[in-house]
Amino acid sequence: MTEHASEGAAVSASQSCIEPDCGASFHLDERIYVCPRCGGLLEIVRPPENVGEAKALRAVWEARLSSRDARDQSGVWRFRELLPFTDDAPVISLREGNTPLYDAPRAAGYCGLGALQLKHQGANPTGSFKDTGMTTAVTQAVRLGARTVACASTGNTAASLAAYAARARLQCAILVPRGQVSHAKLAQSLDYGAHVFELDGNFDDAMRVVRELAADESTYLVNSINPFRLEGQKTVAAELLEQCGWRAPDHLIMPGGNLGNSSAFGKGFKELLELGLTDRLPRITVVQAEGAAPLATLFDERRAGQSAPEQILAGELTPVEQPQTLATAIKIGAPVSWKKALRAVLASGGRVLSVSEQEIADAKAIIGRDGVGCEPASATTVAGIRRLVTEGFIGTGERVVAVLTGHLLKDTDYVINYHRGTLFLDGDRGEDQSRPETREARRITGAYANAPRRVQASGAAILEHIKRAEEGSVGET
Ligand code: F0G
Repeated sequence: MTEHASEGAAVSASQSCIEPDCGASFHLDERIYVCPRCGGLLEIVRPPENVGEAKALRAVWEARLSSRDARDQSGVWRFRELLPFTDDAPVISLREGNTPLYDAPRAAGYCGLGALQLKHQGANPTGSFKDTGMTTAVTQAVRLGARTVACASTGNTAASLAAYAARARLQCAILVPRGQVSHAKLAQSLDYGAHVFELDGNFDDAMRVVRELAADESTYLVNSINPFRLEGQKTVAAELLEQCGWRAPDHLIMPGGNLGNSSAFGKGFKELLELGLTDRLPRITVVQAEGAAPLATLFDERRAGQSAPEQILAGELTPVEQPQTLATAIKIGAPVSWKKALRAVLASGGRVLSVSEQEIADAKAIIGRDGVGCEPASATTVAGIRRLVTEGFIGTGERVVAVLTGHLLKDTDYVINYHRGTLFLDGDRGEDQSRPETREARRITGAYANAPRRVQASGAAILEHIKRAEEGSVGET
């Protein structure tokens, strides 16, 4: 345990093992990533009574909205009473957070809902939700005196870490699966000056190697196994709740990859409930891509067997050996934080499900039609909601928020191929002529395709086209 002098009261916090049979607790300054006693995941624990009173907290957070202080302008550090840092922490920030909550009428109609809101974390400085956790993880790295920060990544964690490491003037080592990261994400990491290592293998291999690397004293690991990452990400629950007038939505739907973000939202909402900032939890539902859905499989098996939550959490997850999905951000077979995420889902009465590549692709195009857009992984949410409305798990009049995790421009190859009708299941773009017999079966149908058209260089030709398109869309919502 350690004492902190934060604004107002002194508070205490520790790193604590999540395994009920262990529960060991460690000082905040210990550079550990899993429990040294039992190997369980760690989380930051602080007694809620030391944080402050709900009404006063709301007022302080709101007042900071008009402040020019760099910390107040960050959507993460504005909620610093929830964070395990003292007031003199060497904050590394790019003004992350403060992301919009959009109404999405077209996506709502697609899902069969009266209304749907999209919390767009792609509006962060490096274009993904990772920034909200990287600000706290890199701040902790600086506090601990690390020289190098490192991560394994499908691209977004890498881009985000590279940016924050550059701000902190730290060395940055990034491990990515070769050929499986979008160009945009790779470009970001290179431009921010990181050492980028392309590994032969998949994300899960990169994760194993980066854990070896972190055994070296000089290197600090900032994947979401690091509990300080999740502390930053959990503040998004407070930001969202504030945007909802402190009335929790009925359902919160999130994509699942390594399962850090759903863990963080779960922790955030649980703490906000304990603090009296909300009187209930939203049901947290995690959506995975069919070819990379180990948690959805576990959830289905145990639900069919009617297992109690403790039993499910005491069990093991069977990894997917060769995960497959065009949503490369979530192409993960052995998610590190599955226990924390599942705990959050079960505590809130949510679900875990998987959706197909075709469903993801169409949902993504629909999100675009609301003028919002996102990267493929984020679109699992709208695809999942549509399913759950059909199944009756989500009522048509319920308040639903989908969390979009990455910006549309993170993977433009995917977008262009969808709209041109050249998006193929195994990502070969249809160039693999060795299997012509399966080519059509592997093609994703661009049900909402919007391919560019070649026209004569004449205004009249273009006007004619627009007129025809308008006539064709009469009655469309
Ligand atoms: N959406 C996007 C756009 C992501 O980049 C990721 C994860 C997720 C969803 C899943 O979040 O892992 O917390 O369950 N990307 C990681 C990376 C793995 O390396 O960028 P999660």
